[in-house]
Amino acid sequence: MNTPNALVVGGTSGIGLAAARQLRARGANVHIVGRGKERLDAVAESDPDLIGHRADGGDRAAVAAVAAAIGTVDWLVISLSGSEGMGPIADLDLDALRGAFDAKFWGHLTTIQAVLPRLASSGSITLLSAITARTAMPGTAGLAAINGAIEAMVKPLAAELAPIRVNGVSPGVVDTPWWNGLPDDARREYFARTAQALPTRRIATADDVADIVVTVATNPNMTGTVIEADGGARLVSLG
Ligand SMILES: NC(=O)c1ccc[n+]([C@@H]2O[C@H](COP(=O)([O-])OP(=O)(O)OC[C@H]3O[C@@H](n4cnc5c(N)ncnc54)[C@H](OP(=O)(O)O)[C@@H]3O)[C@@H](O)[C@H]2O)c1
Repeated sequence: MNTPNALVVGGTSGIGLAAARQLRARGANVHIVGRGKERLDAVAESDPDLIGHRADGGDRAAVAAVAAAIGTVDWLVISLSGSEGMGPIADLDLDALRGAFDAKFWGHLTTIQAVLPRLASSGSITLLSAITARTAMPGTAGLAAINGAIEAMVKPLAAELAPIRVNGVSPGVVDTPWWNGLPDDARREYFARTAQALPTRRIATADDVADIVVTVATNPNMTGTVIEADGGARLVSLG
């Protein structure tokens, strides 16, 4: 087999960056996509083996151009995120929720369409959802809807796009820059409280989740599956 090409959209931070590093360690050519120049520059410095591209996952032409430059994509990982859409339903800002759907759900779908013509028939697509889709945390109905919509696509896409494999990974609470919007003290307090409640008694690292992402992306027997990589978050009540 030729050296496989991996494309991680949302690969300049957190779970995507950890997955990119792990795929590189397996010998793949790894391309990463992000919007921010600062993050791309930082990764170019820390991980010169990863090939950076500046594009928005919601911009079909831009992502298609990245895929075309790669030629054939074997493993597509979509790890882009949104940050809005959280809050009690009575007060939820629906414009913010629409924005969150645009960012994450439509970002996933647009990226899939843009890369599909370049995906190897033996290749795979791995989507990142979140445990909000599978649990009953008050204040997360909006996020549950977005992540539930992403997970709902996994099985039909796995059937429709076969032999291309399609899987999802559903993380719980993961210590990544996604949480940087919270002040340090509040984040530390939330992580400590959550770790106490989780069956694993710890907050996941980006590498914990990336390990599962890489497994479903590369294992030729995995398709149509969403794996809960959540430290048991779905089994307990998290505030
Ligand atoms: N961290 C958690 O606790 C947690 C829990 C459950 C689920 N998840 C999910 O796991 C995935 C990864 O999260 P993370 O924690 O690794 O987040 P993160 O550290 O914030 O990383 C997100 C990455 O996506 C890129 N990105 C965001 N929007 C993009 C877009 N439209 N186009 C291209 N790149 C984009 C970001 O770079 P730029 O902003 O520079 O583009 C960054 O590289 C997300 O889908 C998130 O919802 C995370």
